[in-house]
Amino acid sequence: MYVCCARQKHSDTDGVRVAPWYALVTETLFRSQSLGQLTMPRGTYDLLMPNASTEELPTGDEKRAAVQSMFDTIAPRYDMVNRLMTMRLDVRWRKRTIKDLKLKPGSVVLDLAAGTGDFCVELSKIGHKPVAIDLSYGMLASARCSDPLVQGDLLKLPIADNSVDAAVCGFALRNLVSLEPFFAELHRVVKPGGRIGLLDVSKPANPVLRAGHQFYFNKVVPKVGALLSDAKAYAYLPKSVSYLPEPPELVALVQAAGLTEVTHAQLTTGITQLITATRP
Ligand SMILES: C[S@@+](CC[C@H](N)C(=O)[O-])C[C@H]1O[C@@H](n2cnc3c(N)ncnc32)[C@H](O)[C@@H]1O
Repeated sequence: MYVCCARQKHSDTDGVRVAPWYALVTETLFRSQSLGQLTMPRGTYDLLMPNASTEELPTGDEKRAAVQSMFDTIAPRYDMVNRLMTMRLDVRWRKRTIKDLKLKPGSVVLDLAAGTGDFCVELSKIGHKPVAIDLSYGMLASARCSDPLVQGDLLKLPIADNSVDAAVCGFALRNLVSLEPFFAELHRVVKPGGRIGLLDVSKPANPVLRAGHQFYFNKVVPKVGALLSDAKAYAYLPKSVSYLPEPPELVALVQAAGLTEVTHAQLTTGITQLITATRP
């Protein structure tokens, strides 16, 4: 089943109210196939991710299925736990991303791996037109925004070529099965001159800060996550960082996809990184 909807504000029902500009984004949204995956029963990722407490992490289709199921499971409390663990810095990082992109007023922006739509909220506030795309029905169902929500895979976006002004992606790179096809998709769907902003976790360069951050991320986060949400998911979170290439390699991959004006910034002492780029 493929879901595409624009939710009415303050409504639990997925409506079919589609903003006119949304229809302009791409007719392929409604025709997209191959994205049809129903939400797995809760806990499926327990079977798929049996070694989250060891160094063995899933790859390929197994990883995609495990990630989808994991986010379905933690969705209802995701925002609360996220705000607590980042002490609301995540909100500031998203605002900084949007500011750095210097978008034209009323830009159509894809919020990729949107989760509960945090980027959408910030983009809408300043008059842009976001479209949320995420693999997890659970996360989309918990979204607090009234923008269009699309269930889909970032490696196969249900979006027409050269159709959006910009794309942002918050804290999802390490959850993808592969980065190269994602960067190729960014190049395909963003219009020439369009902007791209990618946020993800990072490690401070300063050894003392790095040690403190490691302790917080590896020891505190899993315990708080277990207490407030789901132990297995929040044990996976610090381990998933090992999927992420080091910043120079990440930048090289973005450039290799043909994106230009690539910048890389370490935010808040380096615990988060922001990559921006332009589609030439
Ligand atoms: C850590 S959450 C980040 C959510 C949101 N962007 C934020 O900033 O809070 C990662 C999100 O990536 C989504 N995700 C992971 N792999 C994906 C894929 N292949 N395609 C689309 N979404 C994906 C998950 O479902 C989850 O909602």
